[in-house]
Amino acid sequence: MVRVTVGVEAHTHDFISTAHEDQKFGLSLANGNALEAVRRIVKLPSLNFLGLHSHIGSQIFDAKGFEVAAERIVSLAKRIWDDLDVEVTHLNLGGGMGIAYMPDDDPLDIPVMAALIGDIVAKECANAGIALPSLAFEPGRAIIGPAGITLYEVGTVKQVELDEGGSRSYISVDGGMSDNIRTALYDAEYSVALASRESVAAKQLSRVVGKHCESGDIVVRDAMLPGDIVASDLLAVAATGAYCRSMASNYNHLPKPAVVSVREGKATVVLRRESMDDLLRLDPGAS
Ligand SMILES: Cc1ncc(COP(=O)(O)O)c(C=O)c1O
Repeated sequence: MVRVTVGVEAHTHDFISTAHEDQKFGLSLANGNALEAVRRIVKLPSLNFLGLHSHIGSQIFDAKGFEVAAERIVSLAKRIWDDLDVEVTHLNLGGGMGIAYMPDDDPLDIPVMAALIGDIVAKECANAGIALPSLAFEPGRAIIGPAGITLYEVGTVKQVELDEGGSRSYISVDGGMSDNIRTALYDAEYSVALASRESVAAKQLSRVVGKHCESGDIVVRDAMLPGDIVASDLLAVAATGAYCRSMASNYNHLPKPAVVSVREGKATVVLRRESMDDLLRLDPGAS
């Protein structure tokens, strides 16, 4: 598969937008690099050219970007057929379908979107007079994101007075940017709730922060949480199934947390919690 930069501005954060020209991913459609790559591949007996791939970005709520990508990639498939007499048998339009992190997030309806893009590809191929390729998608976040919840134990809680008036509660937890880098990396937003008990205390502006020695170590930047949260309470952060454990690190030598699957009341450890021995296993002097 040849990955193509289709020149689409996906309406999402710059760091998760991957198909405009001025970034590192893919071979450019605009400057002819993608066509040239196919030309070279088909000349090589050791390679078998299958098709084209694009991935316009992540956490996208608007199907328009996928429609434009589909149109542009089919136009390249036609060019490959016309210029090189080579059939594109596979089109892969990547992933990027957004999920709800916040109550107002309105994800795309995936079956509706898949049908829409299928129709566009079929129509464009018919107009271009090329055979219909098989169509694939790679929806990572949409599959696994909503399935994950991170549970944190509260450590210290402090109040700060804000310059603009009012106050904010800083609630520190036993994890942070090592198990969820998304807030620090690109200002991701999350919903968080008190999970270990019910509280009728008035809600107050809160920030959930991690235990790393960085001011930017923020898990949830702004949340309204009950004002009586104390050490050892549990907080649940929703929709952390994608791009959290898979991007976890040992920042500050913090061990990674366990991953537990829960189904019909039965909990199973999928990944055990890291131990101090795990952290020291590469150090020959430590045993
Ligand atoms: C090539 C490719 N396909 C699919 C995905 C999955 O994207 P998402 O999780 O936004 O659906 C990614 C994510 O980086 C990717 O790089």
